[in-house]
Amino acid sequence: MSPPPSTSFFSVAIVLLGMMLPHSKAQLNATFYANTCPNVSSIVSNVVQQAFQSDSRIGASLIRLHFHDCFVNGCDASILLDNSSSILSEKFAAPNVNSIRGFGVVDNIKTAVENSCPGVVSCADILALAAESSVSQSGGPSWSVLLGRRDSLTANQAGANTAIPSPFEGLNNITAKFSAVGLNTNDLVALSGAHTFGRAQCRTFSNRLYNFSNTGNPDPTLNTTYLTTLQQICPQNGSGTALANLDPTTSDAFDNNYFTNLQNNQGLLQSDQELFSTPGAATITFVNNFSSNQTAFFQSFVQSMINMGNISPLTGSSGEIRSDCKKVNGS
Ligand code: HEM
Ligand SMILES: *[C@@H]1O[C@H](CO)[C@@H](O)[C@H](O)[C@H]1NC(C)=O
Ligand SMILES: *[C@@H]1O[C@H](CO)[C@@H](O)[C@H](O)[C@H]1NC(C)=O
Ligand SMILES: *[C@@H]1O[C@H](CO)[C@@H](O)[C@H](O)[C@H]1NC(C)=O
Ligand SMILES: *[C@@H]1O[C@H](CO)[C@@H](O)[C@H](O)[C@H]1NC(C)=O
Ligand SMILES: *[C@@H]1O[C@H](CO)[C@@H](O)[C@H](O)[C@H]1NC(C)=O
Ligand SMILES: *[C@@H]1O[C@H](CO)[C@@H](O)[C@H](O)[C@H]1NC(C)=O
Ligand SMILES: *[C@@H]1O[C@H](CO)[C@@H](O)[C@H](O)[C@H]1NC(C)=O
Ligand SMILES: *[C@@H]1O[C@H](CO)[C@@H](O)[C@H](O)[C@H]1NC(C)=O
Ligand SMILES: *[C@@H]1O[C@H](CO)[C@@H](O)[C@H](O)[C@H]1NC(C)=O
Repeated sequence: MSPPPSTSFFSVAIVLLGMMLPHSKAQLNATFYANTCPNVSSIVSNVVQQAFQSDSRIGASLIRLHFHDCFVNGCDASILLDNSSSILSEKFAAPNVNSIRGFGVVDNIKTAVENSCPGVVSCADILALAAESSVSQSGGPSWSVLLGRRDSLTANQAGANTAIPSPFEGLNNITAKFSAVGLNTNDLVALSGAHTFGRAQCRTFSNRLYNFSNTGNPDPTLNTTYLTTLQQICPQNGSGTALANLDPTTSDAFDNNYFTNLQNNQGLLQSDQELFSTPGAATITFVNNFSSNQTAFFQSFVQSMINMGNISPLTGSSGEIRSDCKKVNGS
């Protein structure tokens, strides 16, 4: 039975009207490069796999690059731009300087991708793909990465100083910074689970070890056995650049031990332990869920990585596809 002529007329009119409206915000999707670079995921994952051979920490460093990119002007590879006459690089913002790493591997990935599909794949998408490869190759979940981001023409060093959470600020402030980019408490706890691998320098947590908040004592939410270990790694008056594993139990594996650690007062950063030790906090039930059920953690983590990867991407004809991730084309 065909619908009355008037209905089909209106249907056609509505579809035509829809096609005429500007598509200001194209959605990312998993098949963006299906015709133009069908093998991009395996190209990225092969380079990441190669990098793991000589650097067991590289996966952690790569996912952190994606996080620090997305929180500043959205996931637009702004973090990859070097200083130039018109760029104040985000690499020198406080949360990044002498800390963020993995740029050489990103360049190797870009070179490999350009060799197969020149001028097609954005640096912002490379960061998202490298983050997924890093997690899945470390024992964590795999997922279909949404693609179609384009690269920025600018960087925002001041934004990097204010938008990226600090390990010294309270849970309320950190929650506010996640909320400012559209991420909720579930996302905050799930994404913090990325501290299941990688390292942190003593300077990011040594305030907890000797004279916490001028009390003359260590942070009371720090497990005393763990405290002794950390004091050995980070002597008083040390340089602050020695490294500790973010997850003291399974340092390079992507698993849910991060959450069990928090229950045992073995969160390394103050911002980690606060998720479990802040009285009455909404984060606690998520920590308990993820600690008792790795499947729940992985499921939540994947969704939250997709949410983070969707922060204000440049799409359509905004921005560009950089040919060198470190600089704007033609500069
Ligand atoms: C919730 C607020 C967060 C704070 C305050 C925070 C803070 C930090 C700090 C201070 C370090 C150590 C840096 C150094 O010592 O050089 C670190 C490392 C790391 N962060 Fe976070 N982070 C947060 C959230 C996240 C998120 C959302 C992710 C990813 C989804 C992430 C992934 C990592 C990884 C993997 C490392 C280790 C990097 C490496 O070994 O190179 N962090 N984070
Ligand atoms: C993916 O997004 C691109 C750009 O918006 C679009 O051209 C393409 O049709 C989309 N693919 C699917 C399967 O939605
Ligand atoms: C794409 O990847 C598949 C599986 O990794 C491989 O068999 C194929 O040869 C690759 N194709 C190209 C064009 O690189
Ligand atoms: C880049 O600029 C920062 C200031 O934003 C400066 O501290 C740094 O030394 C410069 N780095 C290079 C390699 O030019
Ligand atoms: C939390 O945010 C407030 C308001 O922005 C700021 O004044 C305060 O210094 C922050 N607290 C910490 C510990 O960073
Ligand atoms: C802790 O720090 C405060 C402020 O700097 C200082 O007055 C106090 O003497 C310190 N306590 C110890 C035990 O070092
Ligand atoms: C650290 O340095 C301060 C002064 O700079 C000194 O009073 C203190 O004894 C030193 N502590 C250690 C353990 O060396
Ligand atoms: C300290 O950590 C150990 C595991 O290393 C755990 O058995 C113990 O319960 C923890 N203590 C506290 C107070 O959380
Ligand atoms: C663990 O979480 C998964 C995913 O949310 C859920 O399907 C499963 O029932 C949970 N298992 C237990 C024992 O609660
Ligand atoms: C645990 O987390 C999973 C994944 O987000 C969710 O489906 C489930 O409802 C949660 N369970 C509890 C008891 O909160």
